[in-house]
Amino acid sequence: MAHQVRAVVATAKGAPVSVEIIEVPDPGPGEVLVAVAACGVCHTDLHYREGAINDEFPFLLGHEAAGTVEAVGPDVTDLVPGDFVILNWRAVCGECRSCRRGRPWYCFSTHNATQKMTLDGVELSPALGIGAFAEKTLVAAGQATKVDPSARPEAAGLLGCGVMAGLGAAMFTGEVGRGDSVAVFGCGGVGDAAIAGARLAGAAKIIAVDLDPGKLELATQFGATHTVDASSVDAVAAVQELTDGNGADVCIEAVGNPKVLEQCFYARDLAGTVVQVGVPDPEMRIDLPMIDFFGRGGALKPSWYGDCLPSRDFPMLIDLYLQGRLDLDRFISETISLDQVEDAFHRMERGEVLRSVVVLGDRSAG
Ligand SMILES: NC(=O)c1ccc[n+]([C@@H]2O[C@H](COP(=O)([O-])OP(=O)(O)OC[C@H]3O[C@@H](n4cnc5c(N)ncnc54)[C@H](O)[C@@H]3O)[C@@H](O)[C@H]2O)c1
Ligand SMILES: [Zn+2]
Ligand SMILES: [Zn+2]
Repeated sequence: MAHQVRAVVATAKGAPVSVEIIEVPDPGPGEVLVAVAACGVCHTDLHYREGAINDEFPFLLGHEAAGTVEAVGPDVTDLVPGDFVILNWRAVCGECRSCRRGRPWYCFSTHNATQKMTLDGVELSPALGIGAFAEKTLVAAGQATKVDPSARPEAAGLLGCGVMAGLGAAMFTGEVGRGDSVAVFGCGGVGDAAIAGARLAGAAKIIAVDLDPGKLELATQFGATHTVDASSVDAVAAVQELTDGNGADVCIEAVGNPKVLEQCFYARDLAGTVVQVGVPDPEMRIDLPMIDFFGRGGALKPSWYGDCLPSRDFPMLIDLYLQGRLDLDRFISETISLDQVEDAFHRMERGEVLRSVVVLGDRSAG
C-alpha cells in the first residue's frame, strides 16, 4: 500500500518550492519507511531548487532529518518499527575499492532506496537520496542510523548533514589533536560545528574568522577562543599574530570561496593542514605558487560529510549531546512547518539563521 503524504517539492528551476501530496511506496527489500519528525534546512536544498546540482526536477527536498522507523523491508534485520533514527547520505556498500581497503567513510558506491517516490505519477528525485521534508520518506536501510531516542529529533537530525560535515572536518579530516591551534574561516552552521569539533578534539586555541560580528559572537558560544573580523583586518596576518607569528596547525575553509581557501593556505603553520569543507561553484579556480605548495609542506584535504561513518559516529555524537558535551540545540535558530521552507531559504540567504528546522508533529503520536 502506498502512502499519501505532504512534502516540499521543487518543480522547476528557480521557482519557489511548494507543499504537495506525494506517494511513498511501502518498503521493499533493503528499504525502510521512516516517519520524519524533524528536518533541517541546508544550503544544498536551495542549490537543488536553483538547478545548481542537476536538472532532474521535480526534487523532493530535505535531507537533515531524524524520525521513527514505521516499516521495514522483508530482509531488513538491524532495524524494527519504532526505532529512532537519523538519516544519512552515506549508506556504505562494504564491497567497493575503498570499503575493501578498510576506509568505508570514503565509500565509492553508496546507495539509496530502489523504489521511487512519485508526484502525480512522476518520479521524484530526493535530495541527496533522502527527501525528508515529508511526513514519511523511503530510504535504504543503511541510510537510517539508530540512536538513543531520548535525543530531541530537531537536534539529532542536524547530524545528518551540515553539522556532521563541520564536526568531522575538524575531528576526522583535519585530525585536530590535543593542544592544537585551529582557525575556522566562515562561521555559519558548518563552521560553528567545526569549532565545536575542534573543542571536542582538545584544541587549545580556536580562532573564528568571519565578516559578520554577529556570527563571531555565536562562534565564541561554540568554543572559539579568539575572533577575527575579516571585513576590517587582514585575516592571514591576524591568525599569524594570534599564533606567535607562526600560523595555525589546522585551517578550515567553511565558506566555499577560493580567496578564503588561499587565506587558509597562508594562515597555516609550516607542515600544517588545510581542510576544505565549503562547496565551490564549478567555475571557481585556485592558483597557488607551486613553490609555496611544496615549500610549506603539510596537507590540503577536501572533506565530504566530515569523512564520517554514520554507524560509528552518530550514536557516539548523540551520547555526547545527551551528556551536555556537544550543544546541538544551539544550532537551531527557529523551528518551522513544512509550509515555511521557502521563507527559510530567504532567511538563510540573508545570513539570519544557523539552522531553520522543520518539525513534523509529535513523535510519540506516531
Ligand atoms: N563538505 C560537505 O560535506 C558539506 C556539507 C554541508 C555543507 N557544506 C558547505 O559548507 C559551507 C558552509 O555552509 P553553512 O551552512 O555554514 O553556510 P552559511 O552561509 O551559513 O555560512 C557561511 C559563513 O561564511 C561567512 N563568510 C562569507 N564570506 C566570508 C569571507 N570572505 N571570509 C570569512 N567568512 C566569510 C558568512 O558570513 C557566513 O557566516 C557551504 O559551502 C556549504 O555548501 C559542505
Ligand atoms: Zn563501498
Ligand atoms: Zn546538507
